[in-house]
Amino acid sequence: TRVAILISGRGSNMVSLIEAARAPDFPAEIVLVLSNRPEAAGLARAAEAGIATQAIDHRAYPDRDSFDAALDAELRAAKVDLVCLAGFMRIFTPGFVEGWAGRMINIHPSLLPLFKGTQTHARALEAGVRLHGCTVHYVVPELDAGPIVAQAAVPVRAGDDPDSLADRVIVQEHRLYPAALALVAGGKVRLEGDRVVFDADAA
Ligand code: GRF
Repeated sequence: TRVAILISGRGSNMVSLIEAARAPDFPAEIVLVLSNRPEAAGLARAAEAGIATQAIDHRAYPDRDSFDAALDAELRAAKVDLVCLAGFMRIFTPGFVEGWAGRMINIHPSLLPLFKGTQTHARALEAGVRLHGCTVHYVVPELDAGPIVAQAAVPVRAGDDPDSLADRVIVQEHRLYPAALALVAGGKVRLEGDRVVFDADAA
């Protein structure tokens, strides 16, 4: 399975995927890291790891349709089978998402369906939840709403601020995302319509 990782920033989840995919028995190969921000720190980290990188600056495109078309063309040129979003901060057009239906996953820093969107750690503290975490889900046109592949929970501790909570969650993100990618790329999990179907040994 040929995988592209889409990033916009530091790329710590990207690094965890690249490292996991180095294992000989990992069912996916990271063939491309693509960023909508040329200055994203993660691009340099990917290049250091010997992965092909590319920047497609969204500011060079007049609208979402033309940016998404350029992105789609690059992914297809690289013969990508599966797309992993890892801190990719652009909203896609429905047409782009439909073209990758069942073949695009995202990691989100909350226990979905709670706290879609940004500022998830501050909002979790504001809401007073005692458990927080992260979710890997299939991407659908509605933001952070797709069928769930895997989740990990962390406790909220007295005295947490958004940064301390984020630090606890990201540790789990780095564990969860490679595990979820292995399930999807290994065919243990798949999307059928709007439901996720798990193999007996993956559930
Ligand atoms: C992660 O918390 C991810 O879940 C969220 O943005 C952050 C990206 O961090 N969507 P990184 O770029 O992977 O370090």
